[in-house]
Amino acid sequence: MWESLKGYIKPGSEEERLVREIDMARLPRHIAVIMDGNGRWAARRGRARVEGHKAGSESVREAAETCARLGISYLTLYAFSKENWKRPRPEVIRLWRLLRDSLKTDGRLFMENNLRLTAIGQRPGIPRLVLKEIERLEKATERNSRMTLILALNYGGRAEILEAVGRILRSRTVRPQDLDEEHFSGFLYTGGIPDPDLLIRTSGEMRVSNFLLWQIAYTELWITPVLWPDFRRKDLFEAVVDYQKRDRRFGDVQSR
Ligand code: IPE
Ligand code: IPE
Ligand code: MG
Repeated sequence: MWESLKGYIKPGSEEERLVREIDMARLPRHIAVIMDGNGRWAARRGRARVEGHKAGSESVREAAETCARLGISYLTLYAFSKENWKRPRPEVIRLWRLLRDSLKTDGRLFMENNLRLTAIGQRPGIPRLVLKEIERLEKATERNSRMTLILALNYGGRAEILEAVGRILRSRTVRPQDLDEEHFSGFLYTGGIPDPDLLIRTSGEMRVSNFLLWQIAYTELWITPVLWPDFRRKDLFEAVVDYQKRDRRFGDVQSR
């Protein structure tokens, strides 16, 4: 078993069994997650939706630590979509406050674990104090190299593509004949980051909800009925095990 997972995984547990099934030489480089189901988790317990978001923050910590220990290079978490502004104002306020608090309290974990933080999404529109905290952590962690945690905040996939087109038109340096897929990708928020190999969605919803529309062209999808606050290490290992059984053909007749 991988050195960094020793002591972290309970011996004889289901998670240990799953970890042993993982081929460490063929890990996904980039995992993206649509963290969904916080509201339903709370409703099932007769609690306010915000309690679900609070419980969900614990799953974020666990997923980030597990991915880093496993050796994943990039983890992208969908935390707030452009469409989430439609929610009742008090929920929106609590969501952003929760995020700011987590970034504040967990900020040191990024340095302790050599993690880099970066955010994707429309920065104008993100509450000022949250943005300040994000930009402070982005700067502080820019040289960290173990894993990059990408937070999608005020993020919309279509908006991202439109913004990229706008940047290209304004730049006036890109000639239409030079604009291939790789070049275009560089204008997205995720420029320089490889496309996700695996996209996980919790809570069983079979949709992508405007997440990374360009980048997931050939991403493997894994959808689980587990609600985000219940998402544990073993669920992540299960996703990776399943991912490694897939035949990624990229349009060819066999995988290479
Ligand atoms: C995901 O959980 C968190 C965010 C979208 C911010 P939801 O709040 O969407 O939970 P459900 O889907 O209503 O259960
Ligand atoms: C997607 O979840 C957005 C995030 C996880 C941040 P939603 O709960 O907003 O998606 P829909 O409305 O069910 O498509
Ligand atoms: Mg939802």
